Amino acid sequence: MNNLILRTARGESTEAIPVWIMRQAGRYLPEFHTVRSKHEFLDVCKSPSLSAELTVQPYRRFAPQLDACIVFSDILTIPAAMGQTLTMVKGDGPKLFPRLESPSQIPDLILKPNVRESLGYVGDAIKESMKLVENAVPVIGFSGAPWTLFTYMVEGGGSRSWTDSRSWLYKHPEESRKILTAITDIIIEYLVMQIDSGAELLQVFDTNAGELPPAVYEEFIVPDLLRIADEVKSQRPHVSLICFPKDCTNLKPFNESAYDVISVSWKTDAAKARAELPSKVLQGNMDPAVMYAGDAVIRKTVHEMIARFGREKYIANLGHGMMPDMKPEMAQSFINAVKSA
Ligand code: CP3
Repeated sequence: MNNLILRTARGESTEAIPVWIMRQAGRYLPEFHTVRSKHEFLDVCKSPSLSAELTVQPYRRFAPQLDACIVFSDILTIPAAMGQTLTMVKGDGPKLFPRLESPSQIPDLILKPNVRESLGYVGDAIKESMKLVENAVPVIGFSGAPWTLFTYMVEGGGSRSWTDSRSWLYKHPEESRKILTAITDIIIEYLVMQIDSGAELLQVFDTNAGELPPAVYEEFIVPDLLRIADEVKSQRPHVSLICFPKDCTNLKPFNESAYDVISVSWKTDAAKARAELPSKVLQGNMDPAVMYAGDAVIRKTVHEMIARFGREKYIANLGHGMMPDMKPEMAQSFINAVKSA
């Protein structure tokens, strides 16, 4: 197996810089649409063979330079396991119904679902993906983070301002804590289940970390993220964990955490991240918008990015995901640029 990314994630000095791309599977790949045109989104996630097929699609295109696959799934599988109905509305993104409008709905939520029963399909998808890729590269497992999942549950989907989610925290701090703690407990079990299915590297996506005032994030949200890493690592010490607290302004609390890797977006300066996280491996962070500027600009930007982060303790990635209107050649340019740097 090409285990370059696993060795780098553990903090080892490696012969090359590993690379993968957030949302490397998905709508920018024509072969994704071929599968997706015949099946509903959640049906694909719930079918281990279809999920595995989509997981491996980017590897088929970008092998042998791509150093990992990420299991094809979604962060919203957890709200679905908690009793909300998940649908994918074309052009409008994911919807969760009914959205959490008031604490009076908490009794309707399944706060302690049987994770292996309701989310076991994600473990099966990881097993199938590893078979399909013939263990050539690791299959990354993942979960949404408590705060990001809470925001989707409250808004009932994506939002421009996330105002309802933030006001929930201020209006109902105790009930918010109850839900966040329940989600945190589910995430711990969910990640352990993915590890037991074969994932050796897992990422926690806190895509909406940057939406909160830094002090509120640090006091109310970061402790859940730290507990996830502590408990998963104490149960399964051999794995590596990545945390992506997107656009979080103070990364220092993560330096003493049990996460191995911290992923940063293009809004986070590499030198600042290195200064705040001296003992961590860093991942990131090219602005995905650079992809549209063509091969020469991608190459130059990647080389500058590597100069900023350095070649040690570093996993190359975008600062966030591929966009549906991107071209596969853009991802290829990015990967080539990392490998030729
Ligand atoms: O390749 C990969 O990265 C693996 C698969 C993956 C998906 N979603 C597939 C997907 C991963 C890791 C995610 C995580 C995810 N999902 C996050 C966290 C990271 C991030 O990207 O911010 C979030 C916030 C979601 C919630 C979600 N699901 C959104 C915002 C969307 C897109 C909405 C839109 O229409 O633009 C989805 C749907 C989704 N997840 C698609 C895919 C391929 C497209 C669904 C479709 O085919 O219709």
